[in-house]
Amino acid sequence: MEKVTLPGLAEKKRRGEKITMLTAYDLPLARLLDEAGVDLILVGDSLGMVALGYPSTVPVTMEEMLHHAKAVRRGVKRALLVGDMPFMSFNLSRKETVRNAGRFMKEAGCDAVKVEAGQGSPASLAAAAAIRAAGIPVLGHIGLTPQTAGLLGGFKVQGRSARQAKQFVAAALQLEKARCFGVVMECVPSELAALITRRLSIPTIGIGAGPACDGQVLVTQDLLGLGRAFKPRFARAFAHLDRTILKAIAQFRREVESGAFPSREEGFSMPPAELRKLRRGGVK
Ligand code: KIV
Repeated sequence: MEKVTLPGLAEKKRRGEKITMLTAYDLPLARLLDEAGVDLILVGDSLGMVALGYPSTVPVTMEEMLHHAKAVRRGVKRALLVGDMPFMSFNLSRKETVRNAGRFMKEAGCDAVKVEAGQGSPASLAAAAAIRAAGIPVLGHIGLTPQTAGLLGGFKVQGRSARQAKQFVAAALQLEKARCFGVVMECVPSELAALITRRLSIPTIGIGAGPACDGQVLVTQDLLGLGRAFKPRFARAFAHLDRTILKAIAQFRREVESGAFPSREEGFSMPPAELRKLRRGGVK
């Protein structure tokens, strides 16, 4: 399979071919996603809640994101790798914003970054534009943006009123104008996502945004049914790994306790002459 490129993603939209994106925080999963032919791999700041046990994505730091992005990079050969700008890594100043985006590229080897723009706050739109102007590919993110969920009234569907929907259309157009290569839309009504998808020349990637988007993204742990108590309506589980893993661990415990694991074949032995020498030396 050919390496995924930005022009290739734009071409997929033109041809009406769907785009796939999934999250990864470590090498083993990244390698599997890449092998399965997923177009984009996102080192999402969902890392904070899914893998680090934080109550929200707000505490996630640049250092944590880079640490995980580097591991993911080592497992990805074909997909486009996107690093998620964590809360307060952009918006403080233009210089700081561009420097942090640059760290994802230089230190972690990402191909692009994602910026949460919520309802299109001027500061976030300016951050996306500044990063792109510095020559770094940017993926915008509108709708329910977890870093600012408090301002949006919590983890709720966004853009249900005509007034708010208009704000999202404007934000998406602004991100396109800032030369973002795509826009993630999270938890917005399907009709609004379809309208924005028609209006934009760049691809839209939905999560809880209905089937009309140019692509779909999920948190990989959700699709695998792995370790998440909270399951949003859109997070279809394509597998139930929690059960499989629990069964395997319980079997390990039983077999250690009964002596069935490990077997002789799963161990190593000393050469007989060395064993004899050891015994002659008085060590029994
Ligand atoms: O952080 C993340 O995983 C995300 C996706 C859910 C789009 O932003």
